[in-house]
Amino acid sequence: MHRETIRVLIGKPGLDGHDRGALVIAQALRDAGMEVVYTGLRQTPAQIVSAAIQEDVDVIGLSCLSGAHNELFPEVVRLLKEQGADDIPVIGGGTIPEEDIPFLQANGIRRVFTPGTPTSEIVSCIRELVAERRGEKPAEPVMPSPKKIAHVAIAVRNLDAAVRTYTELLGFRLLGTETVESEKVRVAFLAIGESRLELLEPTDPSSPVAKFLETHGEGIHHIAFEVEDIEGRLAALKRANAQLIHETPKAGAGGHRIAFLHPRTAHGVLIELCEPHGEVDVHKRQA
Ligand code: CO
Repeated sequence: MHRETIRVLIGKPGLDGHDRGALVIAQALRDAGMEVVYTGLRQTPAQIVSAAIQEDVDVIGLSCLSGAHNELFPEVVRLLKEQGADDIPVIGGGTIPEEDIPFLQANGIRRVFTPGTPTSEIVSCIRELVAERRGEKPAEPVMPSPKKIAHVAIAVRNLDAAVRTYTELLGFRLLGTETVESEKVRVAFLAIGESRLELLEPTDPSSPVAKFLETHGEGIHHIAFEVEDIEGRLAALKRANAQLIHETPKAGAGGHRIAFLHPRTAHGVLIELCEPHGEVDVHKRQA
């Protein structure tokens, strides 16, 4: 039952004798990998419906330049219903005034394209209609977007010197400092507006930041995204085979719950997920 290739019937109901537009669309659909059945000029709605059913098409595209679209397009939909084939979506185009579009849509034409519509838009509309008819859901991301970038963290050898540079030279505001035992680092939080920097100085040679400084020298260490439901995110990432450094959250600076993803997961960048702790903004409280 399931086939990959999309089959489209292009029908020209009515009396107009111009099919250049229809042929251009047909070629664009073939170029997009679809099979196209073209009925030729001056077909009746009944002929179009019967060809669509015989050819087992996924979508019917109607083109009309004669001005009779308000009679001919709904008639195709009515006949499909009569034949029990109204699960085949019908779209239409041609010289159709904007004000006729609501009437056509109310009468079962799923999409109406006016002259000048890029063919790529018609191609993606057909793909969406076919995916919907076949019960395929569009690909969803593994999880909703993070809320924002919580901070960018920089590894430094001497925290006090780095704080002076960032406040006196670069104009950041110092929000506070704190020692995070789990990571063996001393941390300073700096702010410009809503944006935060985190400066990290190792407190012990076994700290991950000490190892980072040994290998890379000073520089950007990680980017933190603020998220909700950090456990749910870590579980979803694990199911998607992402490489995690922490599979369960741990306590970070400010009592926030944090977890790191391996740089291999994010094209060489160490990513921290950070779920704020309660309602209190600890960074502000410390300021
Ligand atoms: Co951080």
